[in-house]
Amino acid sequence: MGMVQELQYYLKGQSTSIPRYIVEQTVMTLLGGLPSLLGVGLRGIAYKALLKADGIPLIEHNVRLLSPANIRLGERVYIDAGCYLNALPGGISIGAGTSLMHGVIFHVFNYRDLPKAGIWVGKNCFFGEYTCIRGQGGVHIGDGVYTGTQVQIAAVNHVYSDPDKYIKDQGITAEGITIEDDVWLASNVVVVDGVTIGKGSVVGAGAVVNKNLPPYSVAVGVPARVVKDRREASAVRKAVEGQVHFGQLEDMRK
Ligand SMILES: CC(C)(COP(=O)(O)OP(=O)(O)OC[C@H]1O[C@@H](n2cnc3c(N)ncnc32)[C@H](O)[C@@H]1OP(=O)(O)O)[C@@H](O)C(=O)NCCC(=O)NCCS
Repeated sequence: MGMVQELQYYLKGQSTSIPRYIVEQTVMTLLGGLPSLLGVGLRGIAYKALLKADGIPLIEHNVRLLSPANIRLGERVYIDAGCYLNALPGGISIGAGTSLMHGVIFHVFNYRDLPKAGIWVGKNCFFGEYTCIRGQGGVHIGDGVYTGTQVQIAAVNHVYSDPDKYIKDQGITAEGITIEDDVWLASNVVVVDGVTIGKGSVVGAGAVVNKNLPPYSVAVGVPARVVKDRREASAVRKAVEGQVHFGQLEDMRK
């Protein structure tokens, strides 16, 4: 690759066009490092010209945004210091009231024009410190989803079928990950590509989720195994407390 092509490749990974790159880098150099409420306020106004935001986005200092034209933020989205959002096509969309805590990474990493790439997050979610999402196959997250610290959601796998070739030269597969509403992924959970985690599920600390989890599962371990159904556990508790009849538990199992 010649110098010019290398430069073009570099710029393609930074922004959606060269004029935009110049404007974005200027604004972010001037305002990106400014701490305190003053910094949050000035970025809230200026960054609205760089990305698509409803209302004033709350963005702390030292947040790195690549291709901000492909980032959509709902109202009251909060992005803590040190986060990194890389929105190569199809971009990143974050719903109203969602918070990204320190060091969170959302990276679409779509240098190969993958058709399903992107990260779509619903409303009122919370991503704990250093959580990292790779969106090559598309990551779809519902409303009210919570992650602990250092959760990894990776919608991509490397092909390694040929032992005589470098793995890095064998390409990737990218199917996508879906996490439905009201899921809690505890600290250090890893979700691998192709998985759907059903509504209302809880995944215990350190688990690796490599198969679909039905709604309201409590799953733990490596690989993650379902140890309870939240609805059954709750029904048993209520039954013990005399609030429901055991008949209701039987109905739920049907
Ligand atoms: C899963 C979790 C929520 C516990 O839920 P719970 O409903 O109280 O479940 P229990 O403690 O009854 O555990 C059920 C079974 O799963 C096992 N288990 C629980 N958590 C586990 C984990 N993280 N990894 C492996 N096994 C686990 C228990 O040992 C138990 O197994 P057993 O029946 O053979 O004894 C909790 O263990 C956990 O992982 N919390 C996450 C803490 C965290 O990351 N906090 C950060 C804040 S976001």
